[in-house]
Amino acid sequence: MRSVFVTGPGSVEVREIEKPEAGPRDVLLRMRASGICGSDHMYISVGGIPPNQGRTPLGHEPAGEIVEVGAEVTGFQVGDHVVIDTMAFTDGLLGSGGDQGGLNEYVVVRDAAPGRQLRVIPRDIPWEVAALNEPMAVALHAVNRLEPKTGDKIVIFGAGPIGLGALLGAKSKGAGHVVVVDLQQERLETALRIGADAVINSATEDVKERLLELHGRSVGGFLRDARPDTDGYIDA
Ligand SMILES: NC(=O)c1ccc[n+]([C@@H]2O[C@H](COP(=O)([O-])OP(=O)(O)OC[C@H]3O[C@@H](n4cnc5c(N)ncnc54)[C@H](O)[C@@H]3O)[C@@H](O)[C@H]2O)c1
Repeated sequence: MRSVFVTGPGSVEVREIEKPEAGPRDVLLRMRASGICGSDHMYISVGGIPPNQGRTPLGHEPAGEIVEVGAEVTGFQVGDHVVIDTMAFTDGLLGSGGDQGGLNEYVVVRDAAPGRQLRVIPRDIPWEVAALNEPMAVALHAVNRLEPKTGDKIVIFGAGPIGLGALLGAKSKGAGHVVVVDLQQERLETALRIGADAVINSATEDVKERLLELHGRSVGGFLRDARPDTDGYIDA
């Protein structure tokens, strides 16, 4: 089967490797889609991840289909579509330095258990949408750590996939006013389309002045300078 490896600084190769075999406690996945993350760019530029530098399999934003279920595994069926927690594998991270990557044709999930490494999703979700599960989970995790309260005023720096995912997450958790800041106007237009209350182009606008306009001035505290009354900041 084919797999995508980082083979050195700036070097990526498609290689033929052995198809993995599933044991009685394992599930075999046929990979159907995988995002390419900003972190993959970093892995490529440094030649892979130690101790697998020079031979690091890529792909940690995957979605796949179950093609084999071990005799002792419960809760999965052949044909199930799944999203994948790449950090929950028992034999190393998937696509971030472990021996397998989401850009393999097949991936074996050792000691597979529902809700542990895999979650079954409806079959009508397109593969490229299912593969967004991992970056959107990253974005939602950022929002969860912020613990926004209903009505909070939030600023998100960066309107890439993670910033836009954080925007969706913040709105879904009841944030009252979300401002997205970026230098790329096209990305800010997307932020507005998917629910940002306002955007700031930091290449052309004064961020602090605009935030004071949008979120008002904070009262109290020891600072003499005007400070925006923003409740939470996310750096994406
Ligand atoms: N699996 C993971 O853990 C995971 C997944 C995806 C992304 N990430 C990380 O999350 C971060 C964001 O990812 P992304 O894919 O959205 O990146 P991205 O590069 O697509 O988006 C970042 C955005 O920030 C904007 N930006 C840069 N400097 C800015 C500044 N000074 N002020 C305002 N905006 C600025 C850029 O114009 C860009 O639109 C990255 O660090 C990435 O490595 C982690």
